[in-house]
Amino acid sequence: MIAGRPRASDSQLLKRHRYLFVCINRRADDNPKGCCAAKGSEDVYKVLKAELAARGLAKLDARVCTSSCLDQCATGVTVLVEPDHFFYGHVTVADVPEIVEGIASGQRVERLVLTADDLAKS
Ligand code: FES
Repeated sequence: MIAGRPRASDSQLLKRHRYLFVCINRRADDNPKGCCAAKGSEDVYKVLKAELAARGLAKLDARVCTSSCLDQCATGVTVLVEPDHFFYGHVTVADVPEIVEGIASGQRVERLVLTADDLAKS
């Protein structure tokens, strides 16, 4: 704690209900691990951010951030949802409306949630 400064409460620190981290890591084309950028993650990031803003969900409900590798390369495009602490995998731009609807309703999109088996692949 910095002396003389008031301490923020937990609610002040957590400004949005959720944070969505979209991996935009890029590797060389010949890298066997592949990468989310090569699977279109930069477009997923841009469309997700725009769609949340268009639905009025960007101020309080969710913030979309870019991320480096989330270590789920085999099942990318990877989106980490916090504080719920789960991954969406194989995400495409076509999935964005359903993900945004899930943010609005508080329901995750189960068909995109990575399972324990998926997580073991990376
Ligand atoms: S490159 Fe996206 S999770 Fe590793």
